[in-house]
Amino acid sequence: MDQLGIAVIGLHMGYGHFRQANSHPGARLVAVCDINPAEVERVQAEFPVPLATTDYQEVLACPDVHIVSITTPDHYHLEQTLAAFEAGKHVLVEKPMARTVDECEQMVNAARKCNKKLMVAHVCRFYSFFQQCKQWTTDGTLGEIYHVETSYIHNYEEIPGHDGWRFDPEKRHFLIGGGCHAIDLARWLCGDVDEVSCYSNHYGIPVQQYDDHWIINCKFKSGAVGRILASDGCQRPYNIDCQVWGTLGTVEGDNTSDTFKLCLRHVDRHRWLTVPKETMAKAIANEIGHFVDCVINDTTPLIDGVDGAKTVATGWAAIESSRTGLPVKVRNEF
Ligand SMILES: NC(=O)c1ccc[n+]([C@@H]2O[C@H](COP(=O)([O-])OP(=O)(O)OC[C@H]3O[C@@H](n4cnc5c(N)ncnc54)[C@H](O)[C@@H]3O)[C@@H](O)[C@H]2O)c1
Repeated sequence: MDQLGIAVIGLHMGYGHFRQANSHPGARLVAVCDINPAEVERVQAEFPVPLATTDYQEVLACPDVHIVSITTPDHYHLEQTLAAFEAGKHVLVEKPMARTVDECEQMVNAARKCNKKLMVAHVCRFYSFFQQCKQWTTDGTLGEIYHVETSYIHNYEEIPGHDGWRFDPEKRHFLIGGGCHAIDLARWLCGDVDEVSCYSNHYGIPVQQYDDHWIINCKFKSGAVGRILASDGCQRPYNIDCQVWGTLGTVEGDNTSDTFKLCLRHVDRHRWLTVPKETMAKAIANEIGHFVDCVINDTTPLIDGVDGAKTVATGWAAIESSRTGLPVKVRNEF
């Protein structure tokens, strides 16, 4: 086989996947799908794709499709992932992996059973600044990591989703669907979370039935502690940020600014260095490229099903803690 065939199902966030699907020389876009024919026509007008349909089963039946990028709303992730595995495809699924821990577990088990690759598209792991932070947590630059903070700040008032699914409590819980960005980033930088203690409130989006502002205090298995903030009713611009505190230095920055702050003990611990950086360039292309590499080389994706499931489990432990007022242990076995 010369090239792997990629299909994209769901063409809103999936439009970004559509635009980047041809960026890896080992793969090419062979199919697109959306239940809305206007979306299918829109992308077809931009770049003709051999198969363009409103029925995702047609995509799964196509022998030229090897990788399916599932970029539909959260409540379709389980159904479409299981169907794709059944049809013998590899799956790149948008975040959150699924709505619940039980749905994630079904996806992990299905991937194991059919021996196909499953990756969750946690795009923060492909932003160069967060990759730099990860590098400095593992190569000793920051010393021993004892504190991490991450935030996901994004007002959703005007983005309910194509049919309002984001505010339907059966289809999405904000802390899982949006907050997973910050939860996954903290987990990536500091490892599995052992226990959480969470508070939440609801001032921003009345139509959203769940709370819209969440603070999670975390105890990581490594011994580090941390705090995750997720807010979708806020009156401030979108961004995702992180702070990593280590015994030799501290870094803080976000995905939208063109600089970040670094303080290193051996340079000057009383002063921040302001360092120029890229913003969000090429993250989706790098994400898709990484998954194509994993399929070609038979390697484990950076965020496999187990990792995606632990992020969802951390979110649900926080929801339980906010509800009960008690610390809650996080499930990390899948
Ligand atoms: N990585 C990120 O930063 C990021 C950003 C936005 C959304 N997302 C994720 O992407 C997914 C989609 O979000 P969105 O913002 O595009 O939602 P949306 O509602 O804006 O768009 C969903 C698209 O999918 C289509 N669709 C719905 N059901 C379908 C089905 N059964 N089969 C085929 N097509 C279907 C709709 O017609 C629509 O075009 C969600 O899981 C969301 O969490 C990720």
